[in-house]
Amino acid sequence: MSALRLEEVWFGYDDTPVLKGVALDVAGGEAVALLGRNGVGKTTLTKLVVALLQPRSGLVRVGGRITEGKAPEDVARLAAYVFQHPDQQLFARTVWSEVAFGPRQQELSPDETRVIVSEALERVGLEAYAEVHPYDLPAAQRKLVTIAAAMAQRPRVLVLDEPTQGLDRAGVGRVADILRSLTQDDVAVLAVTHDLAFVAEALGRAIVLADGRVAYDGPSRELVLDAVRARELGLEVPPAAALGAALGLPGRPVKVREVVDALRGER
Ligand SMILES: Nc1ncnc2c1ncn2[C@@H]1O[C@H](COP(=O)(O)OP(=O)(O)OP(=O)(O)O)[C@@H](O)[C@H]1O
Ligand SMILES: [Mg+2]
Repeated sequence: MSALRLEEVWFGYDDTPVLKGVALDVAGGEAVALLGRNGVGKTTLTKLVVALLQPRSGLVRVGGRITEGKAPEDVARLAAYVFQHPDQQLFARTVWSEVAFGPRQQELSPDETRVIVSEALERVGLEAYAEVHPYDLPAAQRKLVTIAAAMAQRPRVLVLDEPTQGLDRAGVGRVADILRSLTQDDVAVLAVTHDLAFVAEALGRAIVLADGRVAYDGPSRELVLDAVRARELGLEVPPAAALGAALGLPGRPVKVREVVDALRGER
């Protein structure tokens, strides 16, 4: 069964449609990049997934359940959302209680909550900051707090809007590791991003929106290697892939690591 499925979804904020019959299907354990030009409707689509918006027509199913008529809090157990800007999301007085909010909503026992919260904080590397006020942390760590909070909801689907924005290389690597471990736990990951280097590193499948529809749905590697197609869709090819192509490196590398390996093999 798919973890996330959109069937012929139409949506507009006013009379102009933003999404015009979007269909997609994501299985548990898949990590999917949601791509496309500015203003194409990526954030809109993610809000439909977590029931912050409802389709004009068509269906959204999360964990097999239709979101129609449901409020975001009803969907929260199935789909967690990491906002683009952590400050849109943070509200608690400590990192710990921010992350504990989801488990508490689910009425888990204090012991279970403690285990889940510690695990989530450990996964994002913030276990030492449990008692700190989220706003006393730098922006990059505030982002990690919201990721930990989403993980603590133990969702079937994790939706992230620009998860690497404002993070340094180490932070991006950490997010990539987190997403990888979540997919190993069979979570479906849908990440909106403009960062194709991150896509190449961390997200195996790419869905590109153009003019309200799905214009590409396939391996992110193929997309990243097809510079002409990628540019047509308004995407910027990551430097490592562009470098690999310019040097004609064997094995068509797209990740930094692969470029390094290809260069080593050349000598
Ligand atoms: N609350 C709103 N009310 C009216 N129009 C909106 C609203 N939010 C977004 N829009 C419009 O809907 C379209 C899709 O916006 P959306 O934010 O989903 O795009 P996006 O792909 O996430 O863009 P970006 O890459 O800039 O984040 C845009 O034309 C935008 O101006
Ligand atoms: Mg957006």
